[in-house]
Amino acid sequence: MNKRGGKREGAGRKKIKKSLKRDKQWRISVNEKELEILNKKYDARAKQILIKNLIKGEKNMLIISILNQKGGIGKTTSVRNIGYLLSKKGKKVLLVDMDQQGNLTTSFGIDKRELKFTIYDLLKDTAQKDYTLPTEDVIINVQKNLDIIPSNIHLARADYFFGNVRGREYLLKEILKDVSYMYDYCLIDCPPNLGVITDNALVASNRVYVPIKAEKFALEGINDLLDTIEDVKKFFNSEVEISGVFLNQLKVRTNLHEVLTNEIKEYFGDKVLKTTIRDSIKIAEASALNQSITEYSPTSTVAKDFKKLVDEILEREEG
Ligand SMILES: Nc1ncnc2c1ncn2[C@@H]1O[C@H](COP(=O)(O)OP(=O)(O)OP(=O)(O)O)[C@@H](O)[C@H]1O
Ligand SMILES: [Mg+2]
Repeated sequence: MNKRGGKREGAGRKKIKKSLKRDKQWRISVNEKELEILNKKYDARAKQILIKNLIKGEKNMLIISILNQKGGIGKTTSVRNIGYLLSKKGKKVLLVDMDQQGNLTTSFGIDKRELKFTIYDLLKDTAQKDYTLPTEDVIINVQKNLDIIPSNIHLARADYFFGNVRGREYLLKEILKDVSYMYDYCLIDCPPNLGVITDNALVASNRVYVPIKAEKFALEGINDLLDTIEDVKKFFNSEVEISGVFLNQLKVRTNLHEVLTNEIKEYFGDKVLKTTIRDSIKIAEASALNQSITEYSPTSTVAKDFKKLVDEILEREEG
């Protein structure tokens, strides 16, 4: 190899290492053509695809949407706590805030008004076929094994911006493809509606988990949710399916548990998880300190519930 080639190979290796800083143990050999792509300054997308292919098979994250179009039923709380516990078990986890409220983003103490890039920028970049913004540049590392693609009010422009773009349902899938090799799990926090953002989450997902708040009219709107999933399955992503349904914010000392569980079982059969998450003021206290319930009060009943929930999810997904 000539001097110039030698130099370029060195530069290429450096860049690979930078992209793979979470997995330093990997050593990858690249040929001349691959090096050329790696050293190109502007084609970030080609670079990412190549890196992904070079280490193909290392990881392929399972993408899970936490979805229920009813507002305030515990989607964000579930993503926050399930994500934390999975990361503590040594899984590499990516969280995606797909809600313009940005509650998941703030739940880590991130100031959502100060963000350079958000999920909106990635969606826009992909919708416009610019491909100048690598997904990795938007990801924020929040804790060991735990990363987030943040969101804020900019996402409210999404409908206006790419509501008419051809292939608009596939944008998130495209975005996540690039980082799939880096994670074991990706959890998507969905917004409280069934619009184009939720479609994007479902098209990108392998699985869906549905939290249901233990309250009167708990199942209101559930047919719309099931219809949406069926439509996505039929037209865009035949793989997506509900893996689990669980009750949240269950008040003990009421007979709601039994009544609701029976009602939910009629709809979802064996998809109903054994674990239920109890109602606890500690959830709000933990959230005020930007902590997961496990960090805030590891011995509380609700922390134990989330631990059980994650064990049950892992049993379903990994056997
Ligand atoms: N098990 C629980 N016990 C007590 N409070 C809870 C529990 N789960 C969630 N909450 C509280 O309920 C409120 C709504 O929760 P969360 O934000 O997770 O719901 P959401 O479905 O994401 O809402 P939105 O639809 O607005 O995004 C929050 O104030 C949260 O602290
Ligand atoms: Mg939420």
